[in-house]
Amino acid sequence: MFTESTDVVVIGAGVTGLTAATRLRRAGLSVRVLEARDRVGGRLHTDVVDGVPLEIGGQWVSPDQDALIETLAELGLETFSRFRDGDSVYVGPDGTARRFIGDIFPAPEKTQREIERLIEVIDARAAEVDPEAPWAHPRATELDSISFWDWLGQHTSDAEARENVSLFIAEAMMTKPSHAFSALQALFFAASAGSFSHLVDADFILDKRVVGGLQQVPLRLAAELGDAVLLERPVHRVEWDERGEGVVVHTTDRTVAARFAVVAVPPVLYPRIGFSPALPRLVQQAHQHQSFGLVIKVHAVYERPFWREAGLSGTAFSPYQVVHEAYDNSNHGDGRGILVGFASDVRADALFGLGAAERKQRVLESLAAYYGAEALTPVVYYESDWAAEEWTRGAYATSFDLGGLSRYGAAQRVPVGPVHFASSDLAGKGFQHVDGGIRVGREVADAILAATTTTAATDQARAS
Ligand code: FDA
Repeated sequence: MFTESTDVVVIGAGVTGLTAATRLRRAGLSVRVLEARDRVGGRLHTDVVDGVPLEIGGQWVSPDQDALIETLAELGLETFSRFRDGDSVYVGPDGTARRFIGDIFPAPEKTQREIERLIEVIDARAAEVDPEAPWAHPRATELDSISFWDWLGQHTSDAEARENVSLFIAEAMMTKPSHAFSALQALFFAASAGSFSHLVDADFILDKRVVGGLQQVPLRLAAELGDAVLLERPVHRVEWDERGEGVVVHTTDRTVAARFAVVAVPPVLYPRIGFSPALPRLVQQAHQHQSFGLVIKVHAVYERPFWREAGLSGTAFSPYQVVHEAYDNSNHGDGRGILVGFASDVRADALFGLGAAERKQRVLESLAAYYGAEALTPVVYYESDWAAEEWTRGAYATSFDLGGLSRYGAAQRVPVGPVHFASSDLAGKGFQHVDGGIRVGREVADAILAATTTTAATDQARAS
């Protein structure tokens, strides 16, 4: 067993842990990063599948994500815009594909007006929610005790409007059915992205991609840290001092003693680590009320982006299709056409119940409903399956069950002695996004730096 000491040990080399580690190291502290997988980046991963680079995990950057945009500039990474020229497609409840331009789906006119009205209502309610403290909303408990689906039902009697507005947060963001999370959680999500209108506007929320893939961010941060990052080192035990005086972290072949630990893994994985002494009861309870959503991100590659020839942008939506949304995801400077589609929550359950060939067929038929029969014959096909990954277990991120956010949310980011918790799942602004992970990584690093400054000042005062 190898034993070492450092100022800060970071558990998890996703974008959040690596942001914290580089910030601490730039400020002069020593760090050790322990990562369970054989690569860095966690939910950010660019892989080459049958000769095509595909972004298996997170990829998009939106204009409000200033922490991420700053990091991209700092790391010298370039972005490019998603292809969006031409008409979008909407498939309605009768299965008919209709072209449209703008954000509002070409539903019957009355339903369109109702969707616009609901967007205004949600924007106004979301503006009342502080993304850093949604539990502090005066009606937090009440809004957290009703599902988003039921709450929408209280605000409209138009079924198609309700299904479409639900899609923007349920299938598209939380990847859970809208009966499984609260109205408070939905309003918080909108507030964390700046407004509900931002989530509705695909040109905003899915604006840009990084040349070479978004995993470049953790890869470059890890390169800066060099051999401070150790791979294939799952942490299984954290011993911490209740007076805040240090922590000892264990992997199977290494013991790291540190003044502070940053646990930068998704909250559902905290129970994989044995804490001694046990974490406070409120914290242990909070972890049990958070869970991952489920989405299959599907990549279909074609010799050429054939939909563009038909005047289609590649953007497609339908709450009635297996693939509820899809986009042109062709790579920068590559002539091949790539479509990316998403099948969420209960539809993902149903797809995973099928064999691989039938699942592929269902997905491609759904793409064909938007783009025509040519979509049935991609040259490369790939499904991102994060729920099958031991060190993630779902996609895109975690959220509270009904009532959990108001009851436990405030405890999420409070350090326990020398142990700090960080991940995009705990973010306020940028919740569930890379931007949020960077914000939380910075915040945790600054809290540790403030604590070390205070300790140094106290030691100096004692000595003089
Ligand atoms: P993350 O989960 O990435 O990192 C945690 C790390 O801890 C992992 O590397 C894991 O292996 C490691 N670990 C776990 N347990 C451990 C243990 N016991 N010991 C040591 N290491 C351990 N976001 C966005 O901004 N734009 C987007 O377009 C998308 N799209 C998207 C698509 C898909 C399919 C997914 C899955 C996710 C997205 N996201 C996204 C979300 C985004 O990818 C996500 O919010 C962040 O990458 C999360 O970063 P973290 O570092 O917080 O966790």
